[in-house]
Amino acid sequence: MFITFEGIDGCGKSTQAALLCEALGGGALATREPGGWEGGGALRGMALDGSLRHPWSEAFLFLLDRAEHVARVISPALASGRHVVCERYHDSTLAYQVWGRGMPLEPLREAAALAAFPVPDVTLLFHIEPELALARVAGRGRPDSFEKEGLPFMRRIDEGYRALAAAEPQRWIVIECGTRTPAELFEVVKEKLSARGLSL
Ligand code: TYD
Repeated sequence: MFITFEGIDGCGKSTQAALLCEALGGGALATREPGGWEGGGALRGMALDGSLRHPWSEAFLFLLDRAEHVARVISPALASGRHVVCERYHDSTLAYQVWGRGMPLEPLREAAALAAFPVPDVTLLFHIEPELALARVAGRGRPDSFEKEGLPFMRRIDEGYRALAAAEPQRWIVIECGTRTPAELFEVVKEKLSARGLSL
């Protein structure tokens, strides 16, 4: 099964992804975007340091990163029958670059289809109030260029994610994080994924 984790910065999805991989055992592949392939570190640095100038550079960079990640990591693992748990994927590009930065939706959707990026079987959206998420990010120190954008940007991304999830309820699972602890949240994750046929 191909499972992706999405949400605004500070929503706690990394902790949940790690717990899920542990629960799935050695057969599951844990990966993330940007930069989840050998050589992807340079692209990740470029994406997060805020140095890109052309309005399309950021979107192209995430697509390039995804194409190599798919070819080198995701598709081979899925072809060998492994579960793949990926933190962030094409929905991040739609939420951040379309809703966040104002890039057009259809060309980016079409690019993913033309590139034949595998569509996740399940996408978990960790929904948290943007104010709370930003407070957590501030507590971690050293914010990246996306985290520095502030509340209106995070609100637009939150709106984007909710719109994407509402449009495709058969793929998305929305998890309300609220003030739940990571352990409580993971119980919900397990329950929802079991209901979608994943044995845990
Ligand atoms: P990261 O430190 O991995 O953030 P997080 O731990 O919150 O996942 O940084 C990834 C940043 O890149 C994050 O702010 C979201 C952004 N991003 C996009 O804007 N578009 C994309 O397609 C992807 C994959 C990430």
